[in-house]
Amino acid sequence: MFLKNHWYVAALSNEVGRVPLGRVLLDEPVVMFRTGNGEAIALEDRCSHRGYPLHKGRLIGDSLQCGYHGLLFDCSGSCLKVPGQTQVPPGARIRTYPLIERWGWVWIWMGDAARANDTPITDFHWLDDPGWGAKSELLYIKCDYRLILDNLLDLSHLTFVHPGTIGSAANVEKARVQNDLTEKSAVITRWLIDIEPPPTYTRAGFKGNIDRWQILRFDPPTFVNLYAGAVDTGTGAPQGNRRGGVGLRNLNAITPESATTCHYFWAIAQDRAPGDSSATESMFQEIHQTFMEDWEVLETQQRWNDLTAGRPTVNIHSDAGPIHARRIIDRMLAEEELARRRQAG
Ligand SMILES: [Fe+2]
Repeated sequence: MFLKNHWYVAALSNEVGRVPLGRVLLDEPVVMFRTGNGEAIALEDRCSHRGYPLHKGRLIGDSLQCGYHGLLFDCSGSCLKVPGQTQVPPGARIRTYPLIERWGWVWIWMGDAARANDTPITDFHWLDDPGWGAKSELLYIKCDYRLILDNLLDLSHLTFVHPGTIGSAANVEKARVQNDLTEKSAVITRWLIDIEPPPTYTRAGFKGNIDRWQILRFDPPTFVNLYAGAVDTGTGAPQGNRRGGVGLRNLNAITPESATTCHYFWAIAQDRAPGDSSATESMFQEIHQTFMEDWEVLETQQRWNDLTAGRPTVNIHSDAGPIHARRIIDRMLAEEELARRRQAG
């Protein structure tokens, strides 16, 4: 079961074009395409005639023709034409989904369309802010989306999973952690003062010890914004002077495909040299390599969780953020379910 009344990321903008793109989101098949005017459209990816996926069909102007028996649907989901007959059967209409394109990502509303307008999109403006250089990627990961949230919200794993990039022993041994947990968010602040730079930071040019920060913010249903960076030790970063070193945003939006698979949109944004695409690319590659390691862990963890389903696990101190995020999700799921039952009478 997924939270429905939220904006999720459905695609990178450059994935949506004049060839229909089929994608399963929250267990629902969706087809996306772009009109001749460039507007991104999302329809139910299922022909109302015999249930064939419409992304297997083709665009005729701004209408989508089913690749099986040729039924033609417009951008509003209306069936315009059934080949070989003059009548369109009642009930042939298919569902449409509200879409908004923002910061190079395409956002979709899978819930009650009447509520879409008053719900803000989670802020990821760093993706196209001129003060930042950014690059995004989409990964397909075979795990429960909540395992990715656990991973992002508990950075003690960096020491053990990412020793070649952003991890070091000090990351777990010297961390000063503060958890600010509210009804609808979790902010986890980690400071690592006067530590040897891990490999990624050595490659970024640090020669001596650094003061390093990791400030994570979770917003439901599936968004994690990590502000991380470092400056030479003693230069005032904990008090707020974080210029002159490395600062980066790691932006994460996970859209479940099913209970055990997900589309993982993530980006890096750096403000050390915003106009320098090679600086963005090299930071992106560092984090990409890091996420390849997480990918292996997450899919392995899902297989093991399936294999050992029902067996207990224990919690440790660094789970405070992940546990809080899951509580928020569970509470909001219960609220959505209650509202759905009330509406159904
Ligand atoms: Fe990781």
